[in-house]
Amino acid sequence: MAAAALLGGMAFANSGLGAAHGIGMAVGIAYHVPHGEACGILLPHVMKLNQKKAEERMAKIGEALTGRRFAKPEEGAQAAVDFILELNAHMEIKPDFKHLGIPREDIEKLAKASYGTSMSSNPVQLEMDEMIEYISEIV
Ligand SMILES: [Fe+2]
Repeated sequence: MAAAALLGGMAFANSGLGAAHGIGMAVGIAYHVPHGEACGILLPHVMKLNQKKAEERMAKIGEALTGRRFAKPEEGAQAAVDFILELNAHMEIKPDFKHLGIPREDIEKLAKASYGTSMSSNPVQLEMDEMIEYISEIV
């Protein structure tokens, strides 16, 4: 776990964070979800969000995670998403935050709290109305 935390820190120190971290912080703080769990729940959702915009980079991730080569970048990017979905299922990471019973009226507050330096380095930028809609699907 310490080695994974070190590698994770080295990675995000160079790349910036992203929507999983930004939304994860907002949900975690408001509903006392451990940060790693919140980010784990969000990761496949955010990968899907970024899939088209970051297809080439995600294809490399798909190849690294699966040890396979893919003829098309979209196949590699999808393999990355599928790998994380399977990993989450194996670790019994919940598929979303529905179990928290977050009131609908809290979603705008969560959306506002999701912006910041994390979101600025996400490949896909969401306007506030898009963020509200996006978060509504996950919480
Ligand atoms: Fe984080």
